[in-house]
Amino acid sequence: MKAGQGSGGAVPRHVAIIMDGNGRWAQAQGLPRVEGHRRGVEVVRRTVRHARARGIGYLTLFSFSSENWTRPPEEVAFLLNLLKIFIRRDLTELERANVRVRIIGDREALVADLRALLDDAEARTAANTGLTLVIAFNYGARDEITRAVRRLAQAAAEGRLDPTAIREDTLSAALDTAGTPDPDLIIRTSGEMRLSNFLLWQAAYAELVFAPMAWPEFDEAAFDAALAEYAGRDRRFGGLSACAAS
Ligand code: IPE
Ligand code: IPE
Ligand code: MG
Repeated sequence: MKAGQGSGGAVPRHVAIIMDGNGRWAQAQGLPRVEGHRRGVEVVRRTVRHARARGIGYLTLFSFSSENWTRPPEEVAFLLNLLKIFIRRDLTELERANVRVRIIGDREALVADLRALLDDAEARTAANTGLTLVIAFNYGARDEITRAVRRLAQAAAEGRLDPTAIREDTLSAALDTAGTPDPDLIIRTSGEMRLSNFLLWQAAYAELVFAPMAWPEFDEAAFDAALAEYAGRDRRFGGLSACAAS
């Protein structure tokens, strides 16, 4: 049985987190919403360290959705800038920690300097063999699936792909997450219980854990509590659990 598949105290191979509640957390403290985003970056650093300490292979962080452009322009600008600052400040440490950085989402829609920064972060860490940190930025699952289908249709139209040969794997390999195992555990903070267009295809058999606290308050203990909840789940993948089958 592969790590992250099946029950019995397994550490998930891939944890994906919907980092939610920054704005509400800040407002509850009488601070501007963006202060919540700033604090959120600190929590990202701690979460990456803790994922490494727990032996998690892949950590995906939902940082900015394709729907978040509808927010006030000042908040959008702040979030774009925060990503730049994070990459510039933290890339060296991530490189040293053997972390491989991958970005998912529609990069074409981003301004050239940000695109170049993201390309560079991936290139500089491509050979690293430790934790894979996947940053979902300008990411929406429906957009990802639409872009993938468009590429496959183009290949079919040009005779490079036989439509009758399309399998589930064909679509998986055309998504931004190609080569990354599906998430075993998806955590969402702030008490909201929805996926908000996150990894819809890949989440088919993910275990979902909803943590009550806002992202700026998510700490190592909360991460461990989510991992413990995951370890207690009986993952059946449509089959029968090990004890029922025997
Ligand atoms: C998550 O916090 C960060 C992003 C979506 C970019 P929010 O900004 O959604 O905070 P709330 O949910 O409004 O409190
Ligand atoms: C999801 O949170 C996106 C990120 C965490 C980046 P949102 O705050 O955008 O989701 P909704 O609007 O509550 O569904
Ligand atoms: Mg939110």
